[in-house]
Amino acid sequence: MTRTPVNVTVTGAAGQIGYALLFRIASGHLLGADVPVRLRLLEITPALKAAEGTAMELDDCAFPLLQGIDISDDPNVAFDGANVALLVGARPRTKGMERGDLLEANGGIFKPQGRAINDHAADDVKVLVVGNPANTNALIAQAAAPDVPAERFTSMMRLDHNRALTQLSKKTGTPITEIKRLTIWGNHSATQYPDIFHATVAGKSAAEVVNDEKWLAEDFVPTVAKRGAAIIEARGASSAASAANAAIDHVHTWVNGTAEGDWTSMGIPSDGSYGVPEGLISSFPVTCKDGKYEIVQGLDVNEFSRARIDASVKELEEEREAVRGLGLI
Ligand code: NAD
Ligand code: LMR
Repeated sequence: MTRTPVNVTVTGAAGQIGYALLFRIASGHLLGADVPVRLRLLEITPALKAAEGTAMELDDCAFPLLQGIDISDDPNVAFDGANVALLVGARPRTKGMERGDLLEANGGIFKPQGRAINDHAADDVKVLVVGNPANTNALIAQAAAPDVPAERFTSMMRLDHNRALTQLSKKTGTPITEIKRLTIWGNHSATQYPDIFHATVAGKSAAEVVNDEKWLAEDFVPTVAKRGAAIIEARGASSAASAANAAIDHVHTWVNGTAEGDWTSMGIPSDGSYGVPEGLISSFPVTCKDGKYEIVQGLDVNEFSRARIDASVKELEEEREAVRGLGLI
């Protein structure tokens, strides 16, 4: 293979999501079946041995596209030359922890990682933050990387997008491939707003096909928004394979583009569109082309949607204030 490999840095590589993610990156699902990759794994020191075990398994797959694996507990090493950075490792909320404690603990992770990306990543680096609270962690990392264009820092809303696709598919009895232009707005939290008002189902307005506002308000929106908690309740652990799959989808779409006539949802720095304060990392409908994304403009936002978008954006503003108060941004 003569093509230069793409450096993909994955943090939290020994965790649950890491285990579901790395094999798919190495087999070509992240960037394409003809794109060689080099994996650079970041873990905390006590988890290095487990990361080495995963690397041994990756070796044992003999993936033709995998050009090497480096493992480190130093962000300056792991992000060196990174073209794609998947920030998965985060401090989970433990018993007795307040939200402020969680934000502070994650600040201790995402601030130095943002700095390391700033100082060592490749000029074309694309960053996806998965570790929760993903949108605000992305903001912390971005603030620590002033030399990297702000729009390269994104947070993962694709799992929510995919969850919404399936719920709408089940309700309407339509294949996923027939559903277009669904949007998730806001935060990756229970306040997020999955919006079907611009979506189409087999070419028809999804809202008209559904024609059931009660289902929308009392079933669809809360089912999607609280799905993460429902998975934790059912599995005894947070979603892992579906989260890894969404991370693959997010980066694949960002790099390779959205299909004609469709869009996706990404957490991205707001440019003020749709009344979302500038700089907040919030979910928007976006199209992607040539490795860049653009917010879909000109959508009518009805009263039902407006109230829900505003509520989620308010939560993001509160998170931003909290991390500002902690000196993290
Ligand atoms: P996990 O606990 O199984 O793994 C996390 C890994 O991160 C661990 O191996 C840990 O050692 C590592 N880690 C901790 N601090 C680190 C640091 N400073 N540098 C590098 N690695 C570090 O958790 P998981 O199930 O893999 O989930 C990871 C994160 O993803 C969690 O925050 C979870 O809430 C979040 N998540 C987000 C979404 C989303 O849609 N955005 C979905 C599911 C899970
Ligand atoms: C999910 O949406 O599945 C996760 O973000 C839930 C969580 O809190 O880890």
